[in-house]
Amino acid sequence: MSIVLLGGSPSPHSSTSRLLQHVGEKLARHGRRVTRIEARELDPHALLSADCGEPGIARVLAQIAAADALVVATPVYKAAYSGLLKAVLDLLPQDGLAGKLVLPLATGGSQSHMLSLDYALRPVLASMTPRSILPSIYATSGQLERQADGSLALAPAIAARVAQGVEQLAFELHAIELRATAPRAEAAALAA
Ligand SMILES: Cc1cc2nc3c(=O)[nH]c(=O)nc-3n(C[C@H](O)[C@H](O)[C@H](O)COP(=O)(O)O)c2cc1C
Repeated sequence: MSIVLLGGSPSPHSSTSRLLQHVGEKLARHGRRVTRIEARELDPHALLSADCGEPGIARVLAQIAAADALVVATPVYKAAYSGLLKAVLDLLPQDGLAGKLVLPLATGGSQSHMLSLDYALRPVLASMTPRSILPSIYATSGQLERQADGSLALAPAIAARVAQGVEQLAFELHAIELRATAPRAEAAALAA
């Protein structure tokens, strides 16, 4: 089962991207196949003109369509998600998240706009009929310290929250796998 990490920060030195990468590394340690997409790396003209035939955009749409789960990450901009992330989400079909698990993740300058994930991003994700949207993860820039070697040091509270979110996503994917294989195993046992 595959997971797409979708990053929506325009910043080349993005703390959201670093947190997303950290989450991706943890999921990979659970044996999950992880693909990272950074919206800022897409062709801007193709993105803003919704050119779904442009090869880079087409590849991203295919990766999202094939994924079993998405981690959708955004910086908080003006008390909501980034416009860059919305530009990508707007390219998805109306039921573009059908059957998928979604883990929303955001970073913000302070705790003030922590709820923006729930009042702004979550309804947009829900409109595309995902299997379920897991509880959001929110970190302030101050909880994400960049080390001299470029790695990320998480404040204990956010480290615990990330670990919990990753465990939950991995657990739910595993449960889906079990449900998918159980009927086949039962049928094989009956046929034997
Ligand atoms: C244009 C802009 C708007 C922002 N608006 C908010 C905001 O409304 N609330 C908030 O908590 N932080 C706000 N911030 C701070 C960013 O959310 C925060 O620094 C975030 O960690 C940046 O993530 P990034 O490094 O991945 O781009 C804003 C930053 C920018 C550049």
